[in-house]
Amino acid sequence: MDTARISIQDQEVDCPVTVGTEDEVAFDISKLRNTTGAITLDPGYANTGSCESGITFIDGEKGILRYRGYSIEDLAEHSSFLDVAYLLIYGELPTRDELDAFNLEITRHSLLHEDMKKFFEGYPASAPPMSVLSTIVSSLSAYYPSGNSDEEVNLNIIRLIAKLNTIAAFSYKKSIGQPYIYPRNDLSYAADFLHMMFAVPSEEYEVNDLIVRTLDMLLILHADHEQNCSTSTVRMVGSSGADLFSSISAGIGALSGPLHGGANTEVINMLEMIRQDGSNFQKYVAKAKDKNDPFRLMGFGHRVYKNFDPRARVIKKTADEVLGQLGIDDPLLDLAKQLERIALEDDYFRERGLYPNVDFYSGILYRAMGIPTNMFTVMFALGRLPGWIAQWVEMKNDPKTRINRPRQVYTGYNHREYIQIGRRANQN
Ligand code: ACO
Repeated sequence: MDTARISIQDQEVDCPVTVGTEDEVAFDISKLRNTTGAITLDPGYANTGSCESGITFIDGEKGILRYRGYSIEDLAEHSSFLDVAYLLIYGELPTRDELDAFNLEITRHSLLHEDMKKFFEGYPASAPPMSVLSTIVSSLSAYYPSGNSDEEVNLNIIRLIAKLNTIAAFSYKKSIGQPYIYPRNDLSYAADFLHMMFAVPSEEYEVNDLIVRTLDMLLILHADHEQNCSTSTVRMVGSSGADLFSSISAGIGALSGPLHGGANTEVINMLEMIRQDGSNFQKYVAKAKDKNDPFRLMGFGHRVYKNFDPRARVIKKTADEVLGQLGIDDPLLDLAKQLERIALEDDYFRERGLYPNVDFYSGILYRAMGIPTNMFTVMFALGRLPGWIAQWVEMKNDPKTRINRPRQVYTGYNHREYIQIGRRANQN
């Protein structure tokens, strides 16, 4: 199968077929408009490949997720977050020396320019942490100019990974009115984040190894997910030639929405609401099925996964283990499990392939670590950063990249005669 033939009225066009390394088939319609005058229409891009990519593979039917060929389950069990960040960005798992050098670079760049603290001070305490994260990342381009050489780009990549940890923790400290806690070079990425979040100047802060390992695993599970909404945003903004910081800042904005990364916050709000309403699961399952009711089961459903989300499976198992080891009895964990069971017994959810996604159980783990609900999506952004970076670099280096510029089917007025103001109907 080399070509796919499209017929439109009396015209025919042969579209070259591309087959990916996992036998995914696509036909290239890039000549369609020039040949026939027609375009394709695919709202939400559910059938449209925007690029060829060698970073992440998902088989939504089989519940497979791999970064650079490695299964998410293996990476979550055996790797550290910086290991995985290196893999995504540079294409291979690092050797011990490469990882040590990468770690050292990251720790050396974790401080923020002191002037940047003024930005945090300008925000109200109630500012949504994702807004703060997005704007401060955007303002990094004012401090670190965007050179185009590989070396300059790489330096900004290191800076961004190092500083996002600090920016995220500072935004939390600002929101609760505590002094900022500076990064420590002797701690791992995840441990340093917890230290900057929870240490106070008057007390020694002890990092809990179990919590560090759990956080590291959560960051790994979120690290990339091919052409999702925020990643496509990063690539789209970058396709204009915009710098790394501006592109990632836009991605953070896209992630904040409740249908994307913001769902992890909404899941906890929903579970709390159901609990306070007497754990009446049937009522909320019925509301989720009612097309006249805007309520949806948050943390359920996915554009790509139609059987199960492998990340959700790992997180659910880990939530059981970690809460048990920490001696935490969170009623929301039982409630989430019951809701999942009742929903999955229902034909509505089964027929539509709606299963718990990554966001359904992650909030329960974040709660167990003491991370407040309004920071959950920031945690997602921290994890997703290496994926965004890897995708941005791939886009930048791909000779096939053109500025992203979709077309549209216009449905507005045809040409109308201009009428001077005062002569228009209903005006004095
Ligand atoms: N609760 C109830 N019904 C749902 C849900 C849900 N959570 N999700 C989808 N459906 C229904 C839709 O109403 C639709 O039904 P219909 O065919 O009768 O019209 C059908 O399932 C397909 O749903 P779409 O919205 O068309 O699916 P899409 O792929 O566009 O959306 C999405 C995927 C946004 C994830 C959706 O499932 C959803 O809103 N889920 C809740 C929010 C959420 O958890 N988002 C996080 C996703 S993971 C991530 O981004 C990290």
